[in-house]
Amino acid sequence: MTGNLGEHDFVAVTEAAAVAAAKTMGYGDRRHSDHVSVEAMREALATMAIDGRVVIGEGERDKAPMLYVGERVGRGAAGDLPVDFAVDPLEGTNLCATGAADAMAVLAASERGGLLHAPDIYMDKIVVGPTARGKVDLDAPVEDNLKAIAGAFNCAISALTVVVLERERHRDLIRDIRTAGARIKLIGDGDLSTAIAAAVRGTGIHAVIGTGGAPEGVITAAAMRCLGGEIQGRLSALSEEQERRLEEVGIEDRDRIYTTEELAPGEDILFCCTGVTGGDLLRGVRFFGDGYRTSTLLMSLTEGVIRFVETIHRDRNGGPVFFY
Ligand code: FBP
Repeated sequence: MTGNLGEHDFVAVTEAAAVAAAKTMGYGDRRHSDHVSVEAMREALATMAIDGRVVIGEGERDKAPMLYVGERVGRGAAGDLPVDFAVDPLEGTNLCATGAADAMAVLAASERGGLLHAPDIYMDKIVVGPTARGKVDLDAPVEDNLKAIAGAFNCAISALTVVVLERERHRDLIRDIRTAGARIKLIGDGDLSTAIAAAVRGTGIHAVIGTGGAPEGVITAAAMRCLGGEIQGRLSALSEEQERRLEEVGIEDRDRIYTTEELAPGEDILFCCTGVTGGDLLRGVRFFGDGYRTSTLLMSLTEGVIRFVETIHRDRNGGPVFFY
């Protein structure tokens, strides 16, 4: 994926978006937090020697001024590497605005056509890590899926923690998970960040189930390809406008379940996310007198590497470096 570029070039993009957002943490203005992170990500992408194209971004061109779907990003000179991007410069705008856990800046990159151009609607999802990969079925009753996941982990259902977005639409799902006996972590936002955590052993999260954004579903799939986890997703329209979007893009089979490989079919996938606020997987941006420190997860499907990158960004003539 990187061609003549270094992995660091991609890390720098999510770092820039995360730092811009983190400076606004707790200001209570999600739109502003989103805006500054989008601007910072776009600026950072512009310096890269790539012929980039946004396939998942801030929305359609008429709704989003920057990082809209179809926007060309990067230097775009002759011979530059063609790259498709699925970006979420600030996943969890509310989380950042309120200083809650798990906001992050995210990008997935692939060769052309390696990331599904899903419409900006909802998606019914089930996400598990490598241990339970191949054992779940989006159409199965939740109790069956929990039994299968518990079997894969060789533990009781009561030892599982399932993440669910706290939404009215999940009332029955939450009831069924409770009846089956699993523990639930209800989150206000951010099913993408917790999906990644579900695929990493030691985070204490075993699955993410429920309906969230379809764009987040595609980005989750890119992460699952790198981590060996699994997402199954079905596009879901929760409003008339979203019904129209589905029709516009010509998706006729409403029941189709997309596999991880269908959502992110690329052979050359790179995934990168930097914590804005601290969470299950990453620490947030930490500012100190003379600079700041960022935590990033960088994964390459092609290289088969997963790196946790800690970066200290020092102001010129800055003071001492701390190990914390
Ligand atoms: P934003 O970063 O755009 O605020 O999205 C956060 C999020 O919680 C996603 O993680 C999730 O997939 C989606 O919103 C759920 O949408 P809704 O808030 O409409 O239920």
